[in-house]
Amino acid sequence: MNLHFGGVTVLEGVSFDVEPGQVFGLVGPNGAGKTSLFNCISGHYKPSAGSILIEGVEVRGSRPATLARHGLARTFQHPALQLRDTVLENVLLGAHTRLPGGPLEWSMRSPRTTRSEKALRTEALELLERNGLGWAANVRADELSHGLHKGIEFCRALLMRPKLLLLDEPAAGLPHNEVEQLIQTVKRVRDEDDVTVVIVEHHMGLIAALTDRVVVLDHGKSLMEGTAAQAQSDPRVIEAYIGKDAAGDAA
Ligand SMILES: Nc1ncnc2c1ncn2[C@@H]1O[C@H](COP(=O)(O)OP(=O)(O)OP(=O)(O)O)[C@@H](O)[C@H]1O
Ligand SMILES: [Mg+2]
Repeated sequence: MNLHFGGVTVLEGVSFDVEPGQVFGLVGPNGAGKTSLFNCISGHYKPSAGSILIEGVEVRGSRPATLARHGLARTFQHPALQLRDTVLENVLLGAHTRLPGGPLEWSMRSPRTTRSEKALRTEALELLERNGLGWAANVRADELSHGLHKGIEFCRALLMRPKLLLLDEPAAGLPHNEVEQLIQTVKRVRDEDDVTVVIVEHHMGLIAALTDRVVVLDHGKSLMEGTAAQAQSDPRVIEAYIGKDAAGDAA
């Protein structure tokens, strides 16, 4: 896949496959193109060339709402919440894709819409409870910390019942014990809810604990693909992270 903005190349020839049921890691230094790659997959950016297949269906250039119907959900590196709304309202934001019918029926508030909305609310509250945020359901989002905003987005993404979940730096800014909890949560989602996960993270402990495979990006190109352990000991990866001179000194 390629992505250009004007004359600037952001991604070039990046290609990988994620098997169903895997947790797949996307790592690389700041500015490598990880978030841009997520933006291409989720329909927020349109790649200049290439192909994005979800269960064999070409989705390149599809809009985010269409992709949600293909079972894709994501979180953002910088959580995009309605700060004046409550936590519960924020979690419910993405879930209209699960309501039966279409916008006309929803706006007319048919009995079927009301029933489905009620069921989604119950499910959203359960999700918040399961992720340690039940107490915050009726608190306004702007009263909570950045770490909790990440948890809210995670619940919002899960309420969409995704088959494929993209997580952009979910551990950033979390204290150590919460990173451990996040690892357990992602494992549970993979095992119990059959969700395939692609995760961008700088926290190598989390990447090592969670991922089956990783791709390492640097300056928009794929440096290598392999296990987290292979990535951590690969000289090209070490060089990308700490610079050529330092890598030479370290050898
Ligand atoms: N909309 C855009 N217009 C122009 N350039 C962009 C745009 N989005 C991303 N870029 C550029 O693409 C490059 C990769 O950015 P990206 O945010 O994808 O990196 P990243 O790997 O997620 O970094 P980080 O680890 O810091 O989050 C950067 O040089 C950035 O300036
Ligand atoms: Mg990023």
